[in-house]
Amino acid sequence: MDVVDIAKKTLLIYPLVEGHCRRVANLTYAVTSLLHMSNHKKITLAAYLHDLGKTTWPPELLTKFPIEPSDWAVITAHPIASLNILDEIWPKSPEFINALVRGHHERPGGGGYPDGLQEPALEMLIIGACDVYDAIINRHEFIPGEALSSEFALSQVEQFAPVQIMDALTKVIQKNTSTMPSA
Ligand SMILES: [Fe+2]
Ligand SMILES: [Fe+2]
Repeated sequence: MDVVDIAKKTLLIYPLVEGHCRRVANLTYAVTSLLHMSNHKKITLAAYLHDLGKTTWPPELLTKFPIEPSDWAVITAHPIASLNILDEIWPKSPEFINALVRGHHERPGGGGYPDGLQEPALEMLIIGACDVYDAIINRHEFIPGEALSSEFALSQVEQFAPVQIMDALTKVIQKNTSTMPSA
C-alpha cells in the first residue's frame, strides 16, 4: 500500500475529515497546476495529509460550535498531531512535505499556528487557502446550518492569501462552477 492508501484508511476514522482532505487536495492540485509550480504533486500530497491529526480528536470536537477556550490547545496542536501520524505511516516522508503539513495554519504576520511564522512559504499559504475555502463552503457538513457562499469563503481567504493565490483560486472555482451541469 502506498502512503495515500494508508493515509486514507486513517482519515476514514472520520469520513467527514477524509472528504475535506480529498477536496482540499483536489483544489490544491488545480491551483498549483495553474501557477505552474514544479512540485505541485508533492504540495497536493501534503494537502491530502494536512489534517491527519484530527483523527486523534474526540468525535464531538469535530462538530462542536462554538468552540470553548479549553478546546483550543487540542485544536492548535493538530498540525503537530498530523506530523506524528505521518511519521508512523511514512517514516521517510520528505522534509518539504512535513513542513507543509506542519505549516498549513501559518499566516503572514505571525498570526497562525503552531509556530507563528512571520512569513509562511507560498506553498503553506496555498494549502491554507484551499483549506479555509473548503472548510467554509462545506461547514454545514460539520455544523448544521445554512450553506455559506463561495463569495464569503473567498473573502475570508483574502484576509491572508496573497493576490497570486487569490487569482488562481478564484479562476479554479469559477471554472468548476461553470462546468457544473445546470439543474
Ligand atoms: Fe488543519
Ligand atoms: Fe483542514
